[in-house]
Parts: sequence; C-alpha cells; structure tokens
Amino acid sequence: MFETLKELDLVKQSRQGKVRDIYDLGEQLLLVTSDRLSAFDVVFPDPIPDKGRILNGIATSIFKATQHIIPNHFITDKVEEYPEEFHPFKEYLLGRSMLVRKTRVIPFECIVRGYISGSAWKEYAKTNTIGGMMITEEMQESQKFSKPLFTPSTKEEEGHDVNISYRDMLAHTDEWIAQFLKEKSIALYNFGHDMMLEHNIILADTKFEFGSLNGEIVLIDEALTPDSSRFWDVEDYEIGKSPRSYDKQFIRDYLIHSGWQSDTPAPSLPPDVIAQTREKYQQIYKIITKETV
Ligand SMILES: Nc1ncnc2c1ncn2[C@@H]1O[C@H](COP(=O)(O)OP(=O)(O)O)[C@@H](O)[C@H]1O
Ligand SMILES: [Mg+2]
Repeated sequence: MFETLKELDLVKQSRQGKVRDIYDLGEQLLLVTSDRLSAFDVVFPDPIPDKGRILNGIATSIFKATQHIIPNHFITDKVEEYPEEFHPFKEYLLGRSMLVRKTRVIPFECIVRGYISGSAWKEYAKTNTIGGMMITEEMQESQKFSKPLFTPSTKEEEGHDVNISYRDMLAHTDEWIAQFLKEKSIALYNFGHDMMLEHNIILADTKFEFGSLNGEIVLIDEALTPDSSRFWDVEDYEIGKSPRSYDKQFIRDYLIHSGWQSDTPAPSLPPDVIAQTREKYQQIYKIITKETV
C-alpha cells in the first residue's frame, strides 16, 4: 500500500486546489480532500489531522441527504469502484475521496446568510449595504435576517473572490440560471439550518458551488462543511456579539489577534490552535454523519 498519492502523481497528474487534489478522468473527477487548511485564501504549512476525512464525510452525507432539493456530482466513495489505477492507494483514499461527475463550473460562489456576520457585517456597518444592496432594517452584529439573504460572489482563479449583488449576477448570466441558483441555495441553507438547530448549532451562513452538465445544473464541490460554513453554538449566541465558532472563524480570529498581515509564507499554527480546530471540525462531523472520525 502507498502512503500518499505522490507516487500516483508521477503516473497521473493532478491539479491542486487549496484543499483538494483533483484527478481528471475525462467525464469524471476523483476529488481527494487533503488535511490542508486555508484561511483568507492562503494555505497554511501545518495540516489539521483528519480534516480531509471530516470534510469528505460531511459532504458525502449532505449530498445523499439533499438529492430531493437538487441533484449533485457524487458518484461513489467506494475505492473498489474507482478506476483500477487508484486501487493500490486504497489506504490513503478511503474516507477522504469521492468520484464525481465532471461539470462545467458556474463561476459564482453562492453564499447564503441567515445571520449578519463576517464580511457582510463589516460592509453593513460601513455603508448599510450587503453585496451592494441597501438594508433598510436596523441590524446588530450576528442578528438573524427576517429571511435568508443570497449574497453571491465571483469565483476568481487568482486572488480574492469579489462580492456582487444579485443584480450583478443577472448581468453575467441567464435570468433563469441566476433564479435557479438563488432558489436552490436558499433551500439547501434552510435544510442545513433546520438540521443543525436540532443539535443546538446555528448555521449562520454557508457557500455552495454549482456546475452544469448536459443542460442540467448540479451541486458540486463540498456542502455544509466547516470550511464552507459558519457554525455557532446556540448557547453562545447573543445579538450584538460575534459568537464562538465551530469552523474556520476560530483560526481567522486567532490570525487576526496574532497580527498576521496575510503575507506569505503563512505562519506555523500553535499546536493548541490545531488541536482545537480539529475538535471543532470533529463535532460537526459527528452531528452530520452520526459517526466519529
Ligand atoms: N463536479 C465538479 N466538476 C468540476 N469541478 C469541480 C467539481 N467539484 C468541484 N470542482 C472544483 O474543484 C476544486 C476543488 O478543490 P478546492 O481545493 O476546494 O479548490 P479551491 O482552492 O478553489 O477552493 C474547486 O475549484 C471546485 O470548483
Ligand atoms: Mg474549495
């Protein structure tokens, strides 16, 4: 058995995303989720142990549970059903990979916010707008919106994604596509929000990606993971404050307090920050998959 995919890379070239290694198999992709951590679009030198398995497991569960809302790219996560060249790497791939349908990625990050936080709070505090849209309601930090907001951004190959308004989105794509992405993103958010609330976790906001395949739009990438979502503990939740978070926000807060200026190479993370991040990811994994890593 091989320990890593480095040997396979010599035979079959992969493309590296910030977190995933992507093997192009023609009509399919093998997505392998690493333990890499990225924040503020920078990849950190230290892995978070088990993070790859956690993200892959959560996404698999969510893809299976949301098919009634929208079809998705998932084919299988059984290594024996992957093309044969991957079989010798079973030990590494098991639990951290999935075979998916290759789609044409729709170049928007479809963000849904149920509560005002992060960049939306910053923008609102400055200009009373979110994604350029006027917010007439008086809001405090972390407050729940009367209904979830769809706040897309562009998906940039290089550098930071740019927040756009739904109106900007309409200018860049067909109206029915924009309408479909908005409707499905909100339905997926509501599904995740209700599921998590049963476990005393608030899904504050989350991001989805979609791809098109043979005229159909499907959910791709990952869904409702701590990399793509903000999770809060109901017990910590208080309007006017930024709640303790089960996700990357924990790392983001640490980085902001450490005085790091987003310069590269990214700094090493202290062992206790790594351990606490891992624990938070594990808690969400346990709730969604009903399993332990
Ligand atoms: N079914 C799919 N078809 C095509 N591309 C996909 C599919 N699922 C995910 N992707 C793309 O694969 C990449 C996943 O790797 P990741 O490390 O998450 O990348 P990023 O650095 O862009 O976040 C993303 O660019 C995502 O858009
Ligand atoms: Mg990604």
